[in-house]
Amino acid sequence: MVSICIGFHVALDLARRGARVILACRCPVRGAAARDQIRVQSGNQQVLLRLLDLSSMESVRDFAQKIQQEEPELHLLVNNAGVSAFPKKMTSDGFDYTFATNHIGPFLLTSLLLDLLKSSSPSRVVILASSFHSRGVVDFSHFRGENLQHEAAQVYNNTKLHNVLWSNELSRRLQGTGVAVNCVHPGIVMTDVMRHNPLRNRIIFNLLGFFFFKRPEEGAVAPLYCAVSQEMNGVSGKYIDSDCSLTLPCSQAQDLHLAREGYETCLRLTSNL
Ligand SMILES: NC(=O)c1ccc[n+]([C@@H]2O[C@H](COP(=O)([O-])OP(=O)(O)OC[C@H]3O[C@@H](n4cnc5c(N)ncnc54)[C@H](OP(=O)(O)O)[C@@H]3O)[C@@H](O)[C@H]2O)c1
Repeated sequence: MVSICIGFHVALDLARRGARVILACRCPVRGAAARDQIRVQSGNQQVLLRLLDLSSMESVRDFAQKIQQEEPELHLLVNNAGVSAFPKKMTSDGFDYTFATNHIGPFLLTSLLLDLLKSSSPSRVVILASSFHSRGVVDFSHFRGENLQHEAAQVYNNTKLHNVLWSNELSRRLQGTGVAVNCVHPGIVMTDVMRHNPLRNRIIFNLLGFFFFKRPEEGAVAPLYCAVSQEMNGVSGKYIDSDCSLTLPCSQAQDLHLAREGYETCLRLTSNL
């Protein structure tokens, strides 16, 4: 079922607003199902599917090249995809799989699309972070899977802390370009995000989720607020909470030095891939 993830509902809402929406999905079957469902539910035929596996830098470059060739304008990039508690695995580019998917792939993708976003300004970049970033630790050797504890969701938390640092630094670098960058915590949302977690954690999440957590369409509200609301015109470098309020991330996520170092490290690691 494709409609139980936040990204589906973000895309559906954008399509209902009449946007030309490109779904960037790694699985052609699930991607086509999502595209068809969104076309039917929105009545908008300008919903397209392009394949993208964020864990592969080759796939990221192929996707970005296609977008540059096919799209004269790009007004919004939503970095939504993410994995949690994925078993320890290295990618062929030499990155930890969770870091590649949650942080390095989105970093490279956004970097490659920056010129298009700038020439289409005003434009926005939205990064799906998480309140769990506050439990993260920063160690840049983690990108390569070194010194990385694969315990439950710790790697996920680390990647989400990097997401917030990256959002801040990217926003700083894009000042004056008309490209706004913000990151958002969508809330605790009943999706498939726990699919790689231990069975016990999944059962607890699903039981609690059934009664207390947001539904996927509710989880799309704060990301959509960042993406399209008038109130966010000209707002950049902020952390938006699930109730759409501007709030402060944890103190480590506000560290400018760490943010710059993380950005430079990602640039260096992706430059020849
Ligand atoms: N749910 C929550 O409570 C919660 C809380 C805070 C933050 N978030 C964040 O919100 C975002 C969306 O999460 P969700 O809850 O909707 O999770 P989800 O249901 O697991 O959806 C994640 C999406 O990411 C895609 N994806 C995973 N790996 C990919 C890759 N290598 N390349 C391209 N796409 C890939 C998945 O595609 P497939 O269909 O192919 O698997 C899926 O569509 C994530 O960044 C997550 O960290 C979620």
